[in-house]
Amino acid sequence: MAYIHLDGVSKQYGSVWAVDRVNMAIEKHEFVSLLGPSGSGKTTLLRIIAGLERPTTGRVLIDGEDVTELPPHKRGVAMVFQEFLLFPHRTVYENLAFPLRMLKLPKGEIEARVEWVVGILALRGLEKRYPNQLSGGQQQRVALGRGLVGRPKVLLLDEPLANLDRELRQEMEVEIRKHQTDLGIPFIYVTHNQEEALSMSDRIAVVRGGRIEDFASRTDIYDRPKTAFIAQFVGRSNRFTGTAATAGGTISLSGDGVRIETATRPGIADGERVAAYVKNEKVRLRPASAGGAGAANTLAATVRYVILRGAYAEYVLGWSGGELVASRPRSEAEFTEGAEVVACWDAADVDLFPAPEDGR
Ligand SMILES: Nc1ncnc2c1ncn2[C@@H]1O[C@H](COP(=O)(O)OP(=O)(O)OP(=O)(O)O)[C@@H](O)[C@H]1O
Ligand SMILES: [Mg+2]
Repeated sequence: MAYIHLDGVSKQYGSVWAVDRVNMAIEKHEFVSLLGPSGSGKTTLLRIIAGLERPTTGRVLIDGEDVTELPPHKRGVAMVFQEFLLFPHRTVYENLAFPLRMLKLPKGEIEARVEWVVGILALRGLEKRYPNQLSGGQQQRVALGRGLVGRPKVLLLDEPLANLDRELRQEMEVEIRKHQTDLGIPFIYVTHNQEEALSMSDRIAVVRGGRIEDFASRTDIYDRPKTAFIAQFVGRSNRFTGTAATAGGTISLSGDGVRIETATRPGIADGERVAAYVKNEKVRLRPASAGGAGAANTLAATVRYVILRGAYAEYVLGWSGGELVASRPRSEAEFTEGAEVVACWDAADVDLFPAPEDGR
């Protein structure tokens, strides 16, 4: 039996099902992200686990106990929010001690626990400061400390890094992941940012329209997207649409003046409208003079812009069907803006799905 079970959990607000029949099992050692676009139901699901929201249907089990009817403070769950709401007129120490005072713990116990989080979160020396005397990262650590100080069985985090700049966010990602590993409790982390989800999680649940589109390891979510939505939402990719032609174990898609070929897969019929996705980093480039354009999974293009991203370069290419992006390591031969190239990719790197109904 998993440590946390969500069993047919739904939440209805008026005519909207914010969360729709969600089943999940999360193990004790896991870092799980709920990744989805705005309005997909992530916060609602997290609040149901925390006990801040009562599900319309379904049950929540934590550590073998049905907590569906329990108030938040009896669940052993803590939550860290995006707007981390430190008390501005209280010191770091008092901010950290506050949840413990609410629990009416003895003074010695409060001191010991605050001491513990001050130690693990590197806040020593800052105890007497007020929030406005702290950097963004330090404030975020205090917020995290406030979640951890009660020694929760589960820590829930709702976009806790959304207000930090990119560099600090990346530092905090490493830190949060480290704390989760050290503490050995599950963290459930809500984000609409795929980079955050990919950087920290053991498993990612992709949330869409209140439902879990897929719940799998981060590598499966990234490398083997199960649906067109996931292929589009996770990673950066190029999209082609066309009509499927199946023959001899391969599917080819002809449309937009390119022929894309990949192994057949179940559920796609001859003549069906399909969408193919190729991740930017799977697109290779060679000079047009090397030839080879016209074969399957290749196209002739011109480099429009080169965007340097440090370790890699992003080539925005123009071709007869529109634009294509290739991300290549800087260690490879570089192309300049205006260069004529042939872009190609492996058949195995094509993710193919029935074209979504919106016709895009
Ligand atoms: N208290 C409420 N009353 C009515 N509708 C609500 C309420 N809370 C959320 N909703 C609706 O439920 C849906 C899911 O909202 P939720 O806040 O869970 O989304 P989210 O995935 O966290 O989005 P975001 O990334 O923008 O924070 C939305 O359509 C939202 O408008
Ligand atoms: Mg939210």
